[in-house]
Amino acid sequence: MLDLLIHNAALPDGRQNMSIAVQGGRIAEVTEGLNAPAHEMVDAGGLLLSPPFVDAHFHLDSALSYGQPRVNDSGTLLEGIALWGELKPHLTHDAIVERALAYCDWAVARGLLAIRSHVDTSSASLLPVHALLDVQKRVAPYLDLQLVAFPQDGVLRSPGGLDNLQRALALGVDVVGGIPHFERTTAQGSESVRILCEIAADMGKRVDMHCDESDDPLSRHVETLAHETQRLGLHGRVTGSHLTSMHSMDNYYVSKLIPLMQEADLGVVANPLINITLQGRHDSYPKRRGMTRVPELMAAGLTVAFGHDCVLDPWYSGGSADMLEAAHMGLHVGQMTSQAAMRQCFDAVTVHPAKLLGLEGYGLVPGAHADFVLLHARNPAEAIRLRAARLGVWRRGRLLASSPAPVAQLQLPGRPSMVNFL
Ligand code: FE2
Repeated sequence: MLDLLIHNAALPDGRQNMSIAVQGGRIAEVTEGLNAPAHEMVDAGGLLLSPPFVDAHFHLDSALSYGQPRVNDSGTLLEGIALWGELKPHLTHDAIVERALAYCDWAVARGLLAIRSHVDTSSASLLPVHALLDVQKRVAPYLDLQLVAFPQDGVLRSPGGLDNLQRALALGVDVVGGIPHFERTTAQGSESVRILCEIAADMGKRVDMHCDESDDPLSRHVETLAHETQRLGLHGRVTGSHLTSMHSMDNYYVSKLIPLMQEADLGVVANPLINITLQGRHDSYPKRRGMTRVPELMAAGLTVAFGHDCVLDPWYSGGSADMLEAAHMGLHVGQMTSQAAMRQCFDAVTVHPAKLLGLEGYGLVPGAHADFVLLHARNPAEAIRLRAARLGVWRRGRLLASSPAPVAQLQLPGRPSMVNFL
């Protein structure tokens, strides 16, 4: 007898009336209209069953710290970094853990079951690193938390930056990070990319670097990252995050750059919620939008994900762990309104980030982990349009969270008494 049978589900690829059979925490079968005995049966009612949301780019050490010690008045990236610097001396292990666990609760409730979080390695104490390694262990039964050693103040620019980052990796942080555009010079930024990629190659780790997060059309660190990836044979293991300078770059140069990124099989993460608010702050009108060239990078066959980046912290005053909000913003900023493009926006918060993280057993296929989300929507485009309610969130076949369908009572003469937006 099966442990769980979900029937009458729509899948993201458009298949209808699908049944998902679960045994021992894994998906045993995905087929149309299966009728088999199970300890637990769930009627999906024709609604969308998706693999869980994945966030390929987040900062869990700063999440939910909004207003501490003050808010970011200018709204710029640089004031955010300065503000984080003001907060750091006051951080405690317990406070970081408590905020991070609260965020992970939100994430699970939103069907977000895997997060790649950068963790600041700039302080010699490595306080945020120890705290998030602690959180990683505590949430492991219900959420995959992958950590990136992130030298927020510059691995070469900050005293002891390289040593601190290497100690973080030795403690078990999974991925090598960087921030070349924040190093003192372009040359030092390039040098940091080379050093960090060599460390990753030596240690067999993945790379995920904040790269060219600026409005500078001449920022060239993506090119260096692609080159080092290709030189060291790290194809498919390196991600460039933000890449906002690509928005402002000369089109001719981009026509050279994208093939270099293809050659390196570089992963890309755009963070539309954050970069639509942070970028273009030095512009009058027209104001640049500051999201990297998502449709063009997708058309080139690169794996592109949308990340949430920040929630209630020195850089962003909004958010609630909702990856559909990130997809919704990405769709609008990227003008990705065709049916195919809207589907790609949904993939950018599910299958694409799962690939960048290298998640094992992800997806709605036999043999994969029985991890999925039932959404109050009939298809991916509708899920994005409605930022659909997560009716049920399962991991390893076990229900972790549920929410009621958002139905409004209507009191209008001659009209239906209920509105559900489907
Ligand atoms: Fe970031």
